[in-house]
Amino acid sequence: MSEGTIAIAADHAGFPLKEVLKAELEVHGLTVCDLGTDSDSSVDYPDFGRALAEVVSGGDATRGIIICGTGIGISIAANRVAGVRAALCHDATSARLAREHNDANILALGARLIGPEVALDCLRVFLTTSYAGGERHDRRVGKLG
Ligand code: RB5
Repeated sequence: MSEGTIAIAADHAGFPLKEVLKAELEVHGLTVCDLGTDSDSSVDYPDFGRALAEVVSGGDATRGIIICGTGIGISIAANRVAGVRAALCHDATSARLAREHNDANILALGARLIGPEVALDCLRVFLTTSYAGGERHDRRVGKLG
């Protein structure tokens, strides 16, 4: 899997899935930076999306994982931070292409839309797939700002 620290964050809807994915990361010996939330008590997803995005943008984590009920709100929040490319993925193929074509640095998941096995597939593929690079992808990713 990916080198370096992996940051992870979720709102209350994503909290149980965050625990599953965090355990998987730790089994593989990765350093995990868990930014919460720490229970299923209601919280606001923008707070967690922004906090994680700032950790990735600032270089304190090489990749990030964010989870809310749909993955939509928390990915919108993360993508407002400069240097972040958060990709909302629903299967291993979208996770692979997010890395190959978009050089995504944050994986967003919807805990109410996919089960833990699909989420684990997304996580493993996201952390083991390299950016394809090349002039065409570089030009397009560059236009993302
Ligand atoms: C929380 O109820 C829910 O709105 C949130 O987890 C997420 O799905 C927002 O996009």
